[in-house]
Amino acid sequence: MPRAVVIGLGTISKVHLAAIDALPEVELVGAATHDYHKLLDEVRPDVAHVCTPHDTHADIVADCLDRGVNVLLEKPVADTVEAAERVIAAAARAPGLKVGVCLQNRYNAAVQAARKVITPGAAKRTPDATAKAPNLSATATLLWHRDSGYYASAPWRGQKKRAGGGVLINQAIHTLDLLEWLLGDVTGVSGHVGHYGEVDAIDVEDTANARLTHAGGGTSVLFATTTNAVDSPVTIEIVTGDATLLIRDGLTITHRDGRVEHVAERRAGPGSKSYWGASHELLIADFYRTLHDPGPFWIDPAEGTKSLRLIDQLYRR
Ligand SMILES: NC(=O)c1ccc[n+]([C@@H]2O[C@H](COP(=O)([O-])OP(=O)(O)OC[C@H]3O[C@@H](n4cnc5c(N)ncnc54)[C@H](O)[C@@H]3O)[C@@H](O)[C@H]2O)c1
Repeated sequence: MPRAVVIGLGTISKVHLAAIDALPEVELVGAATHDYHKLLDEVRPDVAHVCTPHDTHADIVADCLDRGVNVLLEKPVADTVEAAERVIAAAARAPGLKVGVCLQNRYNAAVQAARKVITPGAAKRTPDATAKAPNLSATATLLWHRDSGYYASAPWRGQKKRAGGGVLINQAIHTLDLLEWLLGDVTGVSGHVGHYGEVDAIDVEDTANARLTHAGGGTSVLFATTTNAVDSPVTIEIVTGDATLLIRDGLTITHRDGRVEHVAERRAGPGSKSYWGASHELLIADFYRTLHDPGPFWIDPAEGTKSLRLIDQLYRR
């Protein structure tokens, strides 16, 4: 029976604790909000769930791997690409251990179904996106509301030096990851970031737009903001040669011949928020199911860093 600990007991830890609770084969043996070294040394768990601020990720993952502990790491892999590369290197030095990155939206029913339409025969566990047809394009919007209370409850979220950025690295990273996973490897990025909202006590962007080109010639555009009045569902509309696919909660496929198909999304579980998607528990269950399989978890630090590299390019523009 794998023995698990949770490091970081803030907002997202509730989803991890509920997911562990739902897995009878996993035993929760401890949690830490600060002195995780003591926890690791005393409890000697098999798996650590890392649910801490972005700037702590690289050190905590390395400390876990050094002690022979597998890691389930919240996104982003780290606050910077340089720190993420340290995570990739630490994982490479510990090939017998698994590091999984929580990009759980890849498990959403709508996303899985869309990928099967776009890449017929594509199994879930195919990290590398293949070159797709040039007539593939997508538009994505993330229109969410994060007010001063959100930042006051965890000030690191509004600090560039701790979070690494704002809406791109903290919220839209999932959507960028999906655009690349669905449309193919990104070969070019352009865009802008800005601070347009009323929350002054932050030095990170609250709004961003981006245009991506994908291997094979496809293109996608993204608009993301946390200055919207409400949390709207993330929308991704994909146009292929044969159909238009609208991901918004579920998936609606409108075929060129007029047929319309719907795929319903799963409901979010305990402790979760609907706009995070309902798939944390699926990813966490998959991580434990494959814990003793040979090879890395399919969303490993290298795979999880792809979206962070796009974000880094947008920040440097
Ligand atoms: N996958 C998702 O959809 C999703 C959603 C929300 C948050 N997240 C991610 O989860 C992580 C945590 O976000 P949050 O909103 O829960 O943050 P939070 O501020 O609510 O909680 C962070 C927790 O980490 C603890 N902590 C800080 N430094 C620590 C350290 N060195 N050692 C041990 N514990 C430490 C804090 O005491 C706090 O309990 C972030 O990486 C965030 O991006 C992911």
